Amino acid sequence: MAIAVGIKNALGSSSMIRKMFEEGTLLKKQYGADKVFDFSIGNPDVEPPPAFHEIFLKLAQEDRKGSHGYMPNAGYPEVREALAKKASREQQVHIDGSHIVMAVGAAGGLNSVFKTVCDPGSEIIVSRPYFMEYRAYAANHGAQLVEVDTLPDFNLDIAAIGRALSEKTAAVLINSPNNPTGKIYPAETIAALADLLRAHGNKTGRLPYLVSDEPYREIAYNIEVPPILSVYSESIIVNSYSKSLSLPGERIGYIAVGPDMHDRDDVMNGLIYATRVLGFVNAPALMQRIVAELTDARVDVAIYAGRRDAFTAILDKAGIEYAPPEGTFYLFCKVPPRRANGAANAPAGDDLAFVEHLKKFLILGVPGAGFGKSGWLRFAYCVDEGIIRASAEAFSKAAESW
Ligand SMILES: Cc1ncc(COP(=O)(O)O)c(C=O)c1O
Repeated sequence: MAIAVGIKNALGSSSMIRKMFEEGTLLKKQYGADKVFDFSIGNPDVEPPPAFHEIFLKLAQEDRKGSHGYMPNAGYPEVREALAKKASREQQVHIDGSHIVMAVGAAGGLNSVFKTVCDPGSEIIVSRPYFMEYRAYAANHGAQLVEVDTLPDFNLDIAAIGRALSEKTAAVLINSPNNPTGKIYPAETIAALADLLRAHGNKTGRLPYLVSDEPYREIAYNIEVPPILSVYSESIIVNSYSKSLSLPGERIGYIAVGPDMHDRDDVMNGLIYATRVLGFVNAPALMQRIVAELTDARVDVAIYAGRRDAFTAILDKAGIEYAPPEGTFYLFCKVPPRRANGAANAPAGDDLAFVEHLKKFLILGVPGAGFGKSGWLRFAYCVDEGIIRASAEAFSKAAESW
């Protein structure tokens, strides 16, 4: 017997982020960890806030019977109530626990959503550049992504989304603050998108869902992340604590559904069923109880802001253009025009070649091709500020010799 063809193909085109991560591990072994400027992976290094450890210890010491047992697949009712209050504030609506399903991170949440709203052959519209795992998540449920470009400032191109809508469109998927660009879509853009989807619904009799993937909602630099649920009735929010509390290994997140959604009961029942039969069964019990007590906590975003400023100063000096990040901990940079005479033959704007070139200076980033946007590359600045500052000379040398 052999493994499934689809999996074999997927393994052949494995994630560029993972590839860079593995190369980084090798380079660190060879040169020492402090000599390698590894900006490849979005694994937050800022520790969870102290309140997390306090509540963790408190709950671990409690002698509460049944606290490790099965529970309703949607999660503990009191946790769903607590998160509904948080989501109500953020999304400027009134929802209660019956609108929340606890999820195994945003990745688990997105899979539950796609399983619930997609039929085989359904289309999900997504704007480039985007988090590449979306492609596999859609394929898990027989759906496919339809990619459209964003505007030059990486805001959504509403007209392009309009052209991509079809009778097969199950959902439009957005991610703000965005990985990899750091863009936060403004309220007017969300309003225009909602108008577009309503007009499409009036014409076809089918309102697409708007799925908003928001794990970076709380990593924003003095810019409001506008609400979605209050703007469009068929919205589904997917959020997690992987970035806002630096808990990616704990796999905890949630899904929130709009209060005025048509077929809301069906959607909720579908999400709960999907969470069960995808094998998640329920989100991790202890983490549910912890995040319910931390609805006002988040990591210190000022740390990321300081790193962003240090990093952008280095890029400015090296003459590398970037999209100014409004949130997240990513810098999306334009491959600079070639400067050096007789440099390798790859054309200007070749992100794969530029990433290879940077590697010679022990700088690791991810090619934009890994996000559906060639000619660009992503650096993750969830690394110590000392490493960022120490990379200045390497960046200047790399840019000069490109
Ligand atoms: C845009 C985006 N969505 C979803 C995820 C998955 O997050 P989680 O760890 O909550 O599953 C990530 C992780 O990096 C991400 O960048």
